Amino acid sequence: MLETKYTTTSEEETIELGSKFARRLNLGDIVFLYGDLGSGKTEFIKGICQYFNVEDLVTSPTFTIMNKYIGDYKNHEVPIYHIDLYRIEQNKELNEIGFDECLYEENSIKLIEWAEKAETHLTKPAFIVKIIPDEDSENIREIYISESEVVLN
Ligand SMILES: Nc1ncnc2c1ncn2[C@@H]1O[C@H](COP(=O)(O)OP(=O)(O)OP(=O)(O)O)[C@@H](O)[C@H]1O
Ligand SMILES: [Mg+2]
Repeated sequence: MLETKYTTTSEEETIELGSKFARRLNLGDIVFLYGDLGSGKTEFIKGICQYFNVEDLVTSPTFTIMNKYIGDYKNHEVPIYHIDLYRIEQNKELNEIGFDECLYEENSIKLIEWAEKAETHLTKPAFIVKIIPDEDSENIREIYISESEVVLN
């Protein structure tokens, strides 16, 4: 698995990186984001959404679990799902929110925070984004991007 490491030194740089990364995305793609609370997953997603000209306000859907935005993909309106699994405690809750149906919908893009809670649901390759805050400097993040080639279950 080829992994690329980036370093950002501000929120704006992380948004910019998200926006550049989004060029690689195609319809049906899944992005799994990892990183502690406040590491910058939502900022990175803001960048992805900026690339697709999403007009809605992109915020962490911690209470709603799932936000649906409309993006512009090659001049077509496509759904972009922004899912935050932080509050999910059991697998059955994923079923209740229709997670699998959403994950395998072909005509949308899926961006998933706290992806560790859904790893067993991943049966096709996804992009993996891991964000690690620097221990010494408040605004520095190491961001690792790769593509999972193996099917995890
Ligand atoms: N280099 C950086 N990249 C991203 N965010 C940064 C950076 N430096 C500082 N920040 C700050 O860190 C915070 C990141 O918040 P964000 O909501 O993106 O985190 P999150 O990973 O989505 O957390 P949660 O799991 O709670 O949803 C913001 O307040 C942002 O301003
Ligand atoms: Mg978030």
